[in-house]
Amino acid sequence: MTDNRWFTDARFGMFIHFGLYSVAAKGEWYASIEQISAEKYRKYFETFDPIRYDPVFYARLAKQAGMKYAVLTAKHHEGFCLFDSACTDYKSVNTPIGRDLIREYTDAFRKEGLRVGIYYSLVDWHHPDYPAFGDPFHPSRNSESARNETCDFNRYLDYMHEQVRELCTNYGKIDLFWFDFSYEGHSGADWRALELTEMVRSLQPGILINSRLEASGGNLGSLLTDSPTPWAGDFITPEQIVPPAPLKAPGNAPVCWEACQTLNNSFGYTADDHVCKDARICIRQLVDCVSKGGNYLLNIGPDGNGSIPPWAVETLREIGTWMNENHESVYGCGESPLPAAAFGCRITAKDNVLYLHVMQQPVGPLPLSGIRPEDILYARMLATGAEVEVLTEGWAVENYPDYTFLSLSSKSNETQLLPDPADTVIKIVLRQAAGPFS
Ligand code: GLC
Repeated sequence: MTDNRWFTDARFGMFIHFGLYSVAAKGEWYASIEQISAEKYRKYFETFDPIRYDPVFYARLAKQAGMKYAVLTAKHHEGFCLFDSACTDYKSVNTPIGRDLIREYTDAFRKEGLRVGIYYSLVDWHHPDYPAFGDPFHPSRNSESARNETCDFNRYLDYMHEQVRELCTNYGKIDLFWFDFSYEGHSGADWRALELTEMVRSLQPGILINSRLEASGGNLGSLLTDSPTPWAGDFITPEQIVPPAPLKAPGNAPVCWEACQTLNNSFGYTADDHVCKDARICIRQLVDCVSKGGNYLLNIGPDGNGSIPPWAVETLREIGTWMNENHESVYGCGESPLPAAAFGCRITAKDNVLYLHVMQQPVGPLPLSGIRPEDILYARMLATGAEVEVLTEGWAVENYPDYTFLSLSSKSNETQLLPDPADTVIKIVLRQAAGPFS
């Protein structure tokens, strides 16, 4: 089993979707959804010139937001490569921008001390040996002219494997490889996944690989079963959802997972998508993931020039302000052994410390279940260090002997407005590591 500690300690990463589709500004599935012909799509390639593509800025922003790693699309389903692959001409160095955008990314992120991940699409809508006609997603799926009798999927697999080899060889240490995605007839052995996984692991010892050599955003793969395949990967990738409970394999063994989420409703830049999530929403999603033992991979989609939309920059900076004060409740933390009894709360945990995330204005004292007052060494506001009183008596709480109450106010039955309405974190240090309390 690969050592995944850096990943489970990190908890928070940046996803970056960037490609020719960023210019079309309708999301990364645009070519498929609108069944755009190869000829029409070619103009994006011929004119691709994102002069504001600036991974140094992206990396600093990620770091400021408290993210510890990133994953960038080296090739998305459209088939266009942001790296200088010897296997194809369909790459950024052959467009007006003329640069290897992956090299700039790996250099910049490493320099900021962030771990580096590569997203690589197994699906390829450009390669002539990727079956087009009749495929459920290919832009030319309904075009008679795409009935390519000479299409040889094995030739595509050779190409795909070679590109993965290039990415694992030419860009220094890669911490994480993010394949995307599998579907019926294109899954596991169909990708020659065993050979591929072995190659990636031998070229990049210690690398983490996601589950999508056999899975997708919806189908979570065999890591959740008692007989994972050899290409099941190291972590599961639920998409656009935070699992309702920690993910476990049979026997209750925790399974490593990472939820990828968009900042609006799109991964690739979409000019018309104005559902902009604010910092409060993202902080709570992050905390929700950590409280269930998962990671949060939050996406940005730079526009056709390479700029991150200003509202997204703002959101990330505000997340950073919260992380500055509260990161201790995220890094290295995981699933809580105790339930969060109070309305709108989550608990993250590490050794003998519980972090109670209060995300909803409580009325009066905050109940904790599964713990007694004498189990608590102290409770304090994480952001300020101010003491939070553990109530042992008081008319409002004495009717609930199964609960321990914390008071945010010096007068136990008064309401104190939450200092941080997004998420006020209370650090609860226990006398011993939290276990089943009797
Ligand atoms: C999906 C989509 C893709 C996106 C990815 C991110 O598989 O096909 O557009 O890149 O999920 O999780």
